[in-house]
Amino acid sequence: MPRYSDELINEIFSQNDIVDYVSQYVKLRKNGRDYTGLCPFHKEKSPSFHVNQEKQLFHCFGCGAGGNLVQFVMRSEGLDFLEALKLMADRAGIILPDEDNIADDKAHQKKKQIYSMNKAAARLYFETLTSHDDGKVGLEYFKERKISPSTIRKYGLGYAPDNFDYLKKHMNKLGFSDDELLEAGLCVTKNGKIYDKFRGRVMFPIIDLRGNVIAFGGRIINAVEKDGYKPPKYLNSAETPVFNKGKNLFSLNLAKKDSAAQCILCEGYMDVISVYQAGVTNIVATLGTALTENQAKLLMKYSGEIILCYDSDEAGQAATKRGIEIITSVGGRCRVMKLKGAKDPDEYIKSNGIELFRKAIKDALPSTEYLLGTLKSQYDTDNPDGKIMFIHKAAEVLAGVKSAVEIDAYVKKIADETEISKEAIYAELKKIRSNDKSGSNIIRQVKMPSKEKNAALDSKIANAEKRLLGLVIDSKKAYQIVKEEFSPPDYSEGPIRKLAEMIYNCYETGENIEPPLIINKFDEKDADFVSQIFCNIETYKDEDNTLRKLVNSIKIERLSIEIEKATNENDVIKVKELLTLRLELEGNK
Ligand code: UTP
Ligand code: MN
Repeated sequence: MPRYSDELINEIFSQNDIVDYVSQYVKLRKNGRDYTGLCPFHKEKSPSFHVNQEKQLFHCFGCGAGGNLVQFVMRSEGLDFLEALKLMADRAGIILPDEDNIADDKAHQKKKQIYSMNKAAARLYFETLTSHDDGKVGLEYFKERKISPSTIRKYGLGYAPDNFDYLKKHMNKLGFSDDELLEAGLCVTKNGKIYDKFRGRVMFPIIDLRGNVIAFGGRIINAVEKDGYKPPKYLNSAETPVFNKGKNLFSLNLAKKDSAAQCILCEGYMDVISVYQAGVTNIVATLGTALTENQAKLLMKYSGEIILCYDSDEAGQAATKRGIEIITSVGGRCRVMKLKGAKDPDEYIKSNGIELFRKAIKDALPSTEYLLGTLKSQYDTDNPDGKIMFIHKAAEVLAGVKSAVEIDAYVKKIADETEISKEAIYAELKKIRSNDKSGSNIIRQVKMPSKEKNAALDSKIANAEKRLLGLVIDSKKAYQIVKEEFSPPDYSEGPIRKLAEMIYNCYETGENIEPPLIINKFDEKDADFVSQIFCNIETYKDEDNTLRKLVNSIKIERLSIEIEKATNENDVIKVKELLTLRLELEGNK
């Protein structure tokens, strides 16, 4: 992320008042120290949304959303940090220096060049489609598929004529060399000759969250077999310095602002476009590959729940299963949509209309229910062998479910359906869980129990550290109490330690703590985390023992992890030692 100077950022913040800006969205009332109103980020009847003019922060005590002005803009407009900062700069009439002045290293220059080449190519394809004779076939194709001119504009769709150097000539004229065209993936070589990669295809630009064209997908419209070679239906850009297909999603740039509650994930470009055109805008697609963990995480950043809507053929259903595994393995929630009587979302809405599609979204099955349902249909549960296999497979699925209540509900359901007792099903589940420990029979979504426990402890520590640092930020007095017992190296490695170093340093040097400036020192991913700490404005109260308790609890949890490790290593002496230490700390609680 480009770094603007502290002075510049400070200027942007001081020229925009948070109360003033938020008032455009929320009716605010002065209420003691704060202004309060109905939270714009969740539904509520009585106001729990606070804006503090002095700190220039907002916080909702209902849903927990909070941050500074730029973060308010990020949430309300669905922008990333830089985009929001730019908007606030514009509002104050401040001109941000061009990105080239900020980072002019070679890699950055290279990327910038590829972006501009992609943009030029996208423009040519678009203009060819919409206003050249060469593009008429493409336009006809989209018309047949019921894609409107305004959708073509929205997605910047295009057409690459069936010609070996249509794009190359144009780009050469703009001053780009053949080598540069190869590097950007817009041209390829064969037998020493260079020619356009995309020919005779309607073009789908892939656009990142900042609005850069990072790659293309192209669909053939007139597949003719030549010399025994049949070109693929869809062709996608190869990976380039600006394109990693496992890290991007088609149309996330358009979907992100409507995806807070849920986002639909499907297979095809045409599916996304056609559903979007029909009015359901929270939909994205992978880029011709199976879902990756990176993509799942990316989507989870914008969306509380992922609705899988893959093709109804066998491949689509296999991809659904893999998708569920990936999403659950990174801690996400998903449901599965069923499209009755159609191959894919595009066909479905063409024959059933968008209202039935909306209903199918509502009716999407929780992932566990989907998995169990598919299993049931795979086995003949009317005969004993089939029943046994089904119960075994179902127990494998349930072994990956965390909530006991949920498991119980499904066990009951399976018991009812198969007339096998609940106890017997639980026994099967238990067997699978103990097998997992020894490493056999693992299905991907099942986590090893001990790892899970450690993860829970880790997050307990992380939460305590976040609260602790939040209190330190809130009050110098808290800082003075904590600094001896818990200094920056005592925080877990990563952004929290970096933040602690900065905060402690501010106190030592007497500098003001300026949240917006501090956040600017972190990259995008960590900025979310850091803003969360700033916004959790728990105020420090002298009278209780909160600080000491927090410090203690972190130390105790850390010991617990070490004890677990030593236990696994059968290091009895160390375990004893650690247990004594822990007992001491627990006595201090
Ligand atoms: P599908 O074959 O399901 O096609 O591919 P579709 O999306 O329904 O396309 P239309 O409706 O026939 O135009 C789904 C996705 O898989 C990738 C593309 O991303 C496509 O959108 N794909 C498909 C490829 O990358 N290459 C191919 O040859 C085919
Ligand atoms: Mn299709």
